[in-house]
Amino acid sequence: MEIDLLRRLSNAFGPPGAEEEPRGIMREELEDSADEISVDKLGNIFFHKRGEEGYPRIMLAAHMDEVALLVTHIEDSGFLRFQTLGGITSHVMPGQRIIFRGRQRPIKGIIGTKPPHIMTEEERKKLFSIEELFVDIGAGSLKEAEEKGCHIGMMGVFDVEFTELGGGYVRGKAFDDRAGCAAMVKAFKALKGSPYNLVAVGTIQEEVGLRGARTAAWQADPDYALAIEGTFASDVPGSKPHEISAKLGGGPVITIADNSIIAHPKVLRTLIEAAEAEDIPYQFKKVPRGGTDAGAIHLTRAGIPSGVVAIPCRYIHGPASVAHIDDIENTARLVEAFIRRISTK
Ligand code: CO
Repeated sequence: MEIDLLRRLSNAFGPPGAEEEPRGIMREELEDSADEISVDKLGNIFFHKRGEEGYPRIMLAAHMDEVALLVTHIEDSGFLRFQTLGGITSHVMPGQRIIFRGRQRPIKGIIGTKPPHIMTEEERKKLFSIEELFVDIGAGSLKEAEEKGCHIGMMGVFDVEFTELGGGYVRGKAFDDRAGCAAMVKAFKALKGSPYNLVAVGTIQEEVGLRGARTAAWQADPDYALAIEGTFASDVPGSKPHEISAKLGGGPVITIADNSIIAHPKVLRTLIEAAEAEDIPYQFKKVPRGGTDAGAIHLTRAGIPSGVVAIPCRYIHGPASVAHIDDIENTARLVEAFIRRISTK
């Protein structure tokens, strides 16, 4: 795996509805491998690879957006109030660095709380709600905040730089789903020159309800679809064995069921057979929670047989995730092997 691609994707700014940066990176990466590239009216990007007639059309989907903050109010004192776009639990938020795109330039800040020194005993024990939190951008008044370029509707993401931790471990923001985007790019490139029919889609607004995938699948009208995701790895101290949904280094995570889909039997079987035949390590998602683009895709038109393969990532939907590069590599291999196997005339 090209670490540099993952680094660029992870560092890219891409809140739901503002996926321009990751979209640009994917376009750059696949310009030479795709027969045609198009962007739809909502912002999904399609990479078409036309193969031989008679082979099924397979849709791959990886979402480009990431969980984010949306500024809803600027206090007279210059502090920003916000709501989240996508699920971020408030217990990971206090003290985090945030970067917004203001009117002129990026605006940096930190999520603040009332200091513990003036909290009551009761307050110290409970979690903050999003409503109690605010972002401090270093502005002394509403006027100063506006002069910096702040406005209602401004979006921000965690301000975290991609880092290699050594031994193949990497840390960065937005691995859900930029790790999936990286694996999709890699698999797509590997299939250049093959006779198969592919449409790989960088989807928008997954984190707020699988929105881009719905319109993308209608347009792509595929015979089969595979969502490539970043899924939660819970192999951390404190998790009981049955709570460990997936673990780092265990290979791509194959979904049997989650809250949005029951994987289509043929897609599921083909994924397993492909992994076995090619000696690709894999694991099953053991805790059937969460949802992915496949949830929206499989209910499109008259129904599209779909499945999910995911990269195990710790701490997704928080400020930074930890993943292992081998898992991303093996996910790309599995996606490629799946396409070769399910493409029969
Ligand atoms: Co995701």
